Amino acid sequence: MIYKFYHITDVHYYSKKNFACDYTKLPQPSTQICILKSEEAFKKALSIIENDPDTNTAIITGDLTNHGDANSHNEVRELLGEFTAKGGDPYVVTDTHDYPYFDVYTIDENGKKVPDTPMNREDVVPTYYPFGRDKGFDKFDGDDTTYIAEILPGLYYIAFGYDLTSADGYNDPKFSDELMDWAKKHIAEIRQKGGTVICGTHWPIVSPSPAYSIVGKGNTFLNGEAFAKDLADLGVRLFFSGHTHIQCIKKITSDNGNEIYSVQTSSLPGFPPKMRKITIDTDKKIFDIKTIDMELDELGGLSFAEYTRKGFLGIIETIPYNMEHDVKAFAETEGGVSLPKELILKHPKIVMFLGRKLNGLTYGKVAKFSRKYHNMTEKDYTDVKDKKFVALLFDLVANLYRGNASYSPDSVEYKITLGAMKKIEKLTSILPIDIKKILCGYSLSEFVEPLLCNEGPDDDNLSVNYN
Ligand SMILES: [Fe+2]
Ligand SMILES: [Fe+2]
Repeated sequence: MIYKFYHITDVHYYSKKNFACDYTKLPQPSTQICILKSEEAFKKALSIIENDPDTNTAIITGDLTNHGDANSHNEVRELLGEFTAKGGDPYVVTDTHDYPYFDVYTIDENGKKVPDTPMNREDVVPTYYPFGRDKGFDKFDGDDTTYIAEILPGLYYIAFGYDLTSADGYNDPKFSDELMDWAKKHIAEIRQKGGTVICGTHWPIVSPSPAYSIVGKGNTFLNGEAFAKDLADLGVRLFFSGHTHIQCIKKITSDNGNEIYSVQTSSLPGFPPKMRKITIDTDKKIFDIKTIDMELDELGGLSFAEYTRKGFLGIIETIPYNMEHDVKAFAETEGGVSLPKELILKHPKIVMFLGRKLNGLTYGKVAKFSRKYHNMTEKDYTDVKDKKFVALLFDLVANLYRGNASYSPDSVEYKITLGAMKKIEKLTSILPIDIKKILCGYSLSEFVEPLLCNEGPDDDNLSVNYN
């Protein structure tokens, strides 16, 4: 059999009804998700699927809205209803941003945020059942989200809920023993009948990178990897998720040598704005994942990917210049890392000095600093020696989200950067600072390396012969 379906996630829909002002006149917000274009992105994604002669089936793994306000939920359901009426077959789960875990706001006449009343989780979850759980042939009794559905003849999808075990009731999701047993029983039965099973949930089952383990601490399933290995042994090859907003595919191998792929797709209106189309050929035992870049009209000559990059990195990229030349503007952005404004304004000369040093940093200077650790001569890096090193730092931040980091281990940039990390490790080893403790058990080079080069499966397009 050949199965085709789509994966979209983290729609972060924000209703235009929430604006009391002309939203088209508002500046682009400096965030990783472009909520001003979330409606357009969702409509575009649904129209791509509707118009695909191959398939109209889509799994959607949560964060349907940006923060769970009633206007946005109403419109998302309306769009899913229209999609279904045109032959679309969505399988959704709701999650974090669909509930009142975040500040809920509308935008007033002056473009300022005004607090709005959040919806209760129990009032949101059942309203999406017609677009997922109601189409399932079994539901797990232990929660209100998990279901299993035959999404195409012989292809079964398990949409997982979870337990939250942490004190704040938000972090550290966990698959309960009962839930895992329920799923394993279904998978064994389906596999015996010759069926194929794929899985999905909102949160990631494994962390996409050491950097995410730190910035997204508590956001990965505590027992995700162990459960994934069990699923691999039962013949499940694909597990989809969202939440991280990171474009990433990771291979997990069980102790018995069976493989399962954690497919994390970035947010539909986020940086980078992407969705995926998946083909599984069960006769040839091949799955093929293709990434589709979202494109929208009227973005001032920018592609949607460039536009969302500008929203995400635009402000951060002004930081080095502002440090050196405009301390007031630097203070306004709180140094990009929530530094107290007063502290910045109290020490303008120190800020300007540090800015000058940062801007003056070239590959050549960094290479000299770490010369013992990269074994290159000046001739080897002469082409890049005057290039500003700070640009690479922004690229590393972008690489965290867009996947497929592409500075190969043979590249000069890779050697100079990792060399510098190793030298810093050496220098700091004599100080009373435990960098590994700060970086959740990773050394500085282990933390930076995946941001320089993706040595795992291709994060966008991947074809695999599975067993
Ligand atoms: Fe999200
Ligand atoms: Fe989320």
